[in-house]
Amino acid sequence: MTTLSAIDGLRQRLQQSIIGQETLVDRLLIALLCNGHLLVEGAPGLAKTRAIKELATGIEADYQRIQFTPDLLPADITGTEIYRPADGSFKFQHGPLFNNLVLADEINRAPAKVQSALLEAMAEQQISVGLKTYRLPALFMVMATQNPIEQEGTYPLPEAQLDRFLMHVRIDYPDATRERDILRLVREENTRAANADLAVNADQTVAISGNDTDSEQAGERLSAGLLFSARQEVLNVYMADDVEQYLLRFVTTTRDPASVSPDLARWIAFGASPRGTIALDACARAHAWLNQRDYVSPEDVQAVVHDTLRHRILLSYEAEADAITTDTVIDQLLSYLAVP
Ligand SMILES: Nc1ncnc2c1ncn2[C@@H]1O[C@H](COP(=O)(O)OP(=O)(O)O)[C@@H](O)[C@H]1O
Ligand SMILES: [Mg+2]
Repeated sequence: MTTLSAIDGLRQRLQQSIIGQETLVDRLLIALLCNGHLLVEGAPGLAKTRAIKELATGIEADYQRIQFTPDLLPADITGTEIYRPADGSFKFQHGPLFNNLVLADEINRAPAKVQSALLEAMAEQQISVGLKTYRLPALFMVMATQNPIEQEGTYPLPEAQLDRFLMHVRIDYPDATRERDILRLVREENTRAANADLAVNADQTVAISGNDTDSEQAGERLSAGLLFSARQEVLNVYMADDVEQYLLRFVTTTRDPASVSPDLARWIAFGASPRGTIALDACARAHAWLNQRDYVSPEDVQAVVHDTLRHRILLSYEAEADAITTDTVIDQLLSYLAVP
C-alpha cells in the first residue's frame, strides 16, 4: 500500500463519520502532513470533537481534550514538578499537552498566560519548566477551537500568536439533507452502543463477541512512520518558479497593498509574516499531494490561501467599520494577482 492510498483510506474513513464537513477533514489531513496546528472556528455541535477523536482512532495516536476555562493555569496544561517527600526529590508530572492529538477546546476562554503556554509548546514542540526542557511527541498536533458567537468574557488571541496556527478554518452548519444523514448515523451508533451494553449485561460470551465486532470495525490504524514518510513526499512535491512567484505575491502584497489597489491599502493595517509564506507553501504542497500530483499548480495555492492567511492579516479600523473581513481582502488578492 502506498502512503497516498493509506492517507486516502483515512480520509474516506473520516468522511464517512464526519458528514458534510469535507473542509474540516481535508484541513486536518493537511495539518498532519505539514506538521502544523489548526484553529477551528465554528458553532458548538459541528463535530469538531468527533473529528479529532475519529482521527485519533484512525492513526496510531493518543488523544486528549483540554477544556480552556478562565481559572486554568499554565501548569495545568504543561505539567509541573511534584515534590516527593519520601526521598525529597522532584518529579515532573507530564501535563495533558504530552499527547499526539490535543483538542484545545474554546481556547479564548483561558487568559493570556495559558494561551501563550500552549502556543509556545506548539511552536517549539517542547515545554520548559524551571531549568528543564521536555520534548513533546514527534507526532504532535493541536486543534484549537473558538466559538464565533460568544465573545463576552473571553480573551481573544493576539494576532502575533494566531500566526502560530498553520491554518484558521471556518466551519458552518450542514444543509438539510446532511443534517438528516447525521441524525440517522448517530441514531444507528446509539442503537449499536445500547445493544452492546445490553449484551454485556446479559451474557459474558456475547460481550466478548461484541468486542470482536468493535475491533473489526475500528480497522487498521495508520502508523506514525507512514505519516512521516508521507510528510517527506509532500516536501518533495515540485514547485515551478512561476508558481512560487505567485505564492510569494499573496504574502508580499499584504505588506504593500497600495501596489495593487487603494481599497486594499485602506483596509490592511499589517500584512502577513514569513510564517504566512511558509504555511502557504506547505499547505499548497500537501493539497497537491492529496490530489495525487507531484507538482504544485496555481489552483493548489488558491485552494488553501484563505485558510492559511485569514488569521495573519490585521485589518484597519476603516475596514472593520465597513464590515470588511480578511476573507474579502483575500478574495481581492485572488482577483488582482495574475495567475501563471
Ligand atoms: N457532520 C457530522 N457528522 C456526524 N455527526 C455529527 C456531525 N455534526 C454533528 N454531529 C454529532 O453531533 C454531536 C455534537 O458533535 P461534537 O463533535 O461534540 O461537536 P463540537 O465538538 O463541534 O461541539 C455529536 O453527537 C456528533 O456525533
Ligand atoms: Mg466539542
